[in-house]
This record gives sequence, C-alpha cells and structure tokens, in this order.
Amino acid sequence: MMEAKLLIQETTVVVFVLGGPGSGKGTQCPKIVEHFGFTHLCAGDLLQAEIESESENGTMIHNFKKEGKIVPSEITVKLLQQAMQQSDNNRFIIDGFPRNEENRAAFENIVKIKPEFVLFFDCPEEELTRRILNRNQGRVDDNIETIGKRLKVYFESTLPVINYYNSKGKVQKIDAQRSVNEVFEDVKSVFAKFKPVVRVDSTK
Ligand code: ADP
Ligand code: C5P
Ligand code: MG
Repeated sequence: MMEAKLLIQETTVVVFVLGGPGSGKGTQCPKIVEHFGFTHLCAGDLLQAEIESESENGTMIHNFKKEGKIVPSEITVKLLQQAMQQSDNNRFIIDGFPRNEENRAAFENIVKIKPEFVLFFDCPEEELTRRILNRNQGRVDDNIETIGKRLKVYFESTLPVINYYNSKGKVQKIDAQRSVNEVFEDVKSVFAKFKPVVRVDSTK
C-alpha cells in the first residue's frame, strides 16, 4: 500500500467550487476531473461518509445536515486535509467549501493554502429549488422545508465568502442556468491554463 503523504506540498493547487445548493457543482466537477486531471473533494460527501461510518461525530453531522446547518469547521477541514494528504495528486477541486467565514479562516489556518481561484456557479433561487426537488437521490436534506433553511444559509453565510474572494479578484463566475454542456464550455475556458488530460488509446 502507498505511504500517506505527511505534508501538503507548496505546489498544491486548490480551486474552490461554490454556488447555491443544486447549482450543479457535483455535476460539473467530475467533468473537470476527466478533462484537467484534478481530484474532486466534495465537503458534503466527506461529511456524509462520516455519518455512514458511524464515527463519533456521525449523529451530530447528521443533525446539522438535516437542519441545513454548517458543521463546525474543525471537522470539515480535518476531513479535507486527510483526503488531500492521502492523495497522490497535487491539484484539487474542493466542492461546497468554504460555506462560511469560519470554514474559510479554518482552511487557511490549518491547511495553509490559498485557492488559485473560486469557481462560482450563479443560479437563481427558483431554479435551485426546482433542481433539488427533482434530484431524487434520497438525501435527508432534499425536502422543501430543509431547502428553505439551506438557501437562507447560502445567502447569509456563503455569499459573503464569495464576495470576499471577489474583492480579491479571485472569482470566476459562471451562468449556471443553462444546459450541463453549455455550462461546461465556460468551465473549460476557466481551466484552460491547466493542460487538458491527454488520453492514450490503449487499443492501438
Ligand atoms: P450541487 O452539487 O451544486 O448541489 P448537483 O450537481 O447535484 O448540484 O445538481 C442538482 C440537480 O440538478 C441534479 O439532479 C442534477 O442532475 C441537476 N442539474 C445539474 N446541472 C444542471 C443543469 N445545467 N441543468 C439542469 N439540471 C441540472
Ligand atoms: O454540498 P452539499 O449540498 O452536499 O452539502 C450538504 C450539507 O453538508 C450542507 O447543507 C451542510 O449541512 C453540510 N456541509 C457543511 N459544510 C460544508 C459543506 C457541507 O456543513 N463545507
Ligand atoms: Mg453537490
């Protein structure tokens, strides 16, 4: 088995992927992985794995998720840091993080890496609600009551983080209310400076 890395290298590239719940982060990220060789870390999925592993924090995380609340940053940042250390890659897209100012500060203090840029999927509230209600993945938080709470948290806590990065000239905003392929065309332009992955046809 591969030894886990102890340090996250200075050459590590981190891109944060933000946008309201249902804006298409989880749909677009695998395409970025495929085309540009990044590793996708989804904060919400790492937290869900903690719930399913019945770890000591599992019940607490489940209750936060059900209420659409942001889990204490120490927990989420530790999960992200572990995933980065266990990876052989040095390019990461981190989806659904930082969700609030506390998340942002904790990542900077603990992981000590600033994002290369923030990919922001901009999408109107009605479309977010429509997509979440149609998502149909059995999520405990994809119901009309929790959606209202999640949208409130997004507008009150996450948008200020996006505005913070925007004031530093780090936000790449994309109109997410279009087809998956149209959105990805814009994503590709934003990632153009990272060389596309060259696929070798093994049948030849
Ligand atoms: P997020 O990870 O930002 O919460 P998802 O990628 O899970 O969002 O997308 C939420 C739902 O909307 C999913 O059912 C997905 O298939 C759908 N979806 C994603 N992108 C689009 C799009 N551009 N147009 C229409 N539906 C979309
Ligand atoms: O990103 P996603 O919609 O999958 O996140 C689901 C839930 O996970 C959030 O509503 C929140 O309860 C929790 N979460 C969090 N902190 C993050 C990301 C997700 O607490 N940075
Ligand atoms: Mg998602």
